[in-house]
Amino acid sequence: MKQQPIGIFDSGVGGLTVAHAIKQILPGESLIYFGDTAHLPYGDKSAEAIRYYSQRITKFLLEHDSKVVLVACNSASASAFDYLKEEFSDKTILIDVIDPVVDFIATKNFRKIGIIGTKRTISSGTYERKIAEKAPHSSVVSMATPLLVPMIEEGFIFDDISNAILRSYLSNETLAGIEALILACTHYPIIKNQISKIFNFNIEVLDSSRVVAIILRDLLEKRNLLNDSGQVNDRFFISDYTPYFGKIAKMFFEGEINLQKADIWS
Ligand code: DGL
Repeated sequence: MKQQPIGIFDSGVGGLTVAHAIKQILPGESLIYFGDTAHLPYGDKSAEAIRYYSQRITKFLLEHDSKVVLVACNSASASAFDYLKEEFSDKTILIDVIDPVVDFIATKNFRKIGIIGTKRTISSGTYERKIAEKAPHSSVVSMATPLLVPMIEEGFIFDDISNAILRSYLSNETLAGIEALILACTHYPIIKNQISKIFNFNIEVLDSSRVVAIILRDLLEKRNLLNDSGQVNDRFFISDYTPYFGKIAKMFFEGEINLQKADIWS
């Protein structure tokens, strides 16, 4: 069990931000990553469609012996996590990317928090509900920013186009007066510095990657599941070839990566 990989999935490159944080905190672990590039973006899909994709991908990760399945996608965490727990929690350990961020927020004293994410995540109201429960001292405003995922997947980052789109979104008066901004999409940490700069580095910009990696480490430690064999093998699967996936993955994982297409939909 200890040597089995950590399964991670997202619609595309977004979950790599979480995978990267895991690699930094748990370098001895093997990862198996699934990017569902054939169905990207998830944020525009119905909750039912995202549930179906998430169930099938979780099965794939379990067929590859994942000791943990990490839902490294906010849209899937908001729409499918409860269903995945019902179906798979007797077979594996499941982790989402929303609860760890909410637990972190609960330890802070932010008066007003902004949330940006996909249409699916924002319309689900999951963050608002959970923050109201665990951090009632914080008021929350949220806004869907649907152009950001295609923008990032197409490689428009740290350039004039992405700056114009971000400025237009982030100057919306809904976000006036926030002390912290939650990046409620795992793609967004790729442009975290660009976002912080637009706020003149005056607010805290929070994302799930590090808090999730820490929770995972604590969990594996507690259950005596840390890989101590010294053997690491990371594998990356995508459901369709996109030019940018390999490029971003190499950026995060330095050098050659083992990338394969897995046709799990036919
Ligand atoms: N990175 C994902 C999320 O956190 C999915 C984005 C998308 O495919 O729309 O929501």
